[in-house]
Amino acid sequence: MSLSIVILAAGKGSRMKSAMPKIMHKLAGTTLLEHVIETAQTLSPQSMAVVCGNAADQVLPLLAEMDVPVVMQHEQLGTGHAVMQADAVFSDVEQVLVLYGDVPLTQQSTLNALVNCGNNNSLRILTTQLDDPTGYGRIVRNDAGNVICITEQKDADQQTLAIKEVNSGIMVLPAKWLQRSLSKLSNNNAQGEYYLTDMVALAVNDGLEIKTVCCDDNAEVAGVNTRQQLAELERHYQQLQANELMARGVTLADPARIDIRGTLLTGTDITIDVNVILEGNVTIADNVEIGANCIIKDSTIGEGTIILANSMIDSSEVGTNVNIGPFARLRPGTVLSANSKIGNFVETKNANIGEGSKVNHLSYIGDTDMGSNVNIGAGTITCNYDGVNKHRTTIGDNVFIGSDSQLIAPITVEAGATIGAGTTLRKDAPKSALTLTKSVQKTVEGWKRPVKIKK
Ligand code: UD1
Ligand code: MG
Repeated sequence: MSLSIVILAAGKGSRMKSAMPKIMHKLAGTTLLEHVIETAQTLSPQSMAVVCGNAADQVLPLLAEMDVPVVMQHEQLGTGHAVMQADAVFSDVEQVLVLYGDVPLTQQSTLNALVNCGNNNSLRILTTQLDDPTGYGRIVRNDAGNVICITEQKDADQQTLAIKEVNSGIMVLPAKWLQRSLSKLSNNNAQGEYYLTDMVALAVNDGLEIKTVCCDDNAEVAGVNTRQQLAELERHYQQLQANELMARGVTLADPARIDIRGTLLTGTDITIDVNVILEGNVTIADNVEIGANCIIKDSTIGEGTIILANSMIDSSEVGTNVNIGPFARLRPGTVLSANSKIGNFVETKNANIGEGSKVNHLSYIGDTDMGSNVNIGAGTITCNYDGVNKHRTTIGDNVFIGSDSQLIAPITVEAGATIGAGTTLRKDAPKSALTLTKSVQKTVEGWKRPVKIKK
């Protein structure tokens, strides 16, 4: 059966107390709306649209970037009204799946189960059982156990309020019937809104079959209405990811203290200490150790590499058996070859560090091509910026650079060269020779240290 997906995202989300629409708040580094769209896309629908309204100027750029069609709902008159605005989207299909932009964690398998649980003459509702159903629409059944309607919290009597089976908001409806019947919705209810949930009673009336799929994992159907709910879902999601990581052969010092905000590919026998954040697309090979408080973003880490505490790695490629940190900062464009070492308080950017080369302490290596087995002394700086343009530094194999040296780019230090400590290098250094800028040492005899002035 051909399928269209309509995602409702026009509401404001007043309870978030935010200038940003609710669906643009992030869970695991991705907006709530993107989570829903990405899951929807895995179902390969014939057509799809997002209903936008509140703060559309903030939402439309994201939808343009994701190439997802938009339908505007200029006034937010309820979920039923929102679907009415999108009726052109499902004019050529047999069934419509309605998703909510504020329900981010529904699994593809759950949606497939819902779509496949009925035929084109049935209305299908994703439900769940909640100990505390406050705020949700209740699934009302007759004595035979058949669903007769959904009643919203604000319209419910005491007996209905006691029902613990609730509407997730996610529904599959026959498209042609929906198009014909949407105009029958009224806003004669406690909120003065056109409720999509009223389609259930209309469907019963028209002799459609009502099917429900009850989702056991409450988080899959949880809607985000408050920042507290957002934080709870974030923790739940991170816990699931941590469990999956451990199942894949990764040791976590504390599964409650890791955050994965993106896609992580891992080998086995990786050890990750507490408070590590992994963002974007990160790939970590076998036997890598990551110390506490490291942040790794959009990077690949080679086998056997050790990253010590408090290091930040962004858009970098790290080879095998590399040592990094503690307190190292790898900025975008850093490529570390096998067996290289980046020590404490070292910053790199757009830098190729050759095999076995070491930058152990307190250095800045930017816009640099470095050969293999180079040793960079503490406090070395590649002066890559003249105030207007960036220039590159080239360092050949087996170079030794003494501490506290400045290499003023563009510049080349040829293979095997040694640079004396404290050198300010303004011209290329030839291969295999010692180059240094001499500063004469002077001793002042009889010199007295200043004494503190008494007031
Ligand atoms: C809705 C359901 C309720 C269900 C709950 C699950 C209705 C009437 N009620 O209630 O049965 O238990 O979700 O989370 O459907 N939206 C629009 N345009 C509008 C109104 C809402 O696009 O005019 C969008 C919102 O942006 C949101 C979604 O629809 O993404 C749900 O709206 P919300 O106001 O959160 O509905 P609930 O009161 O939670
Ligand atoms: Mg809601």
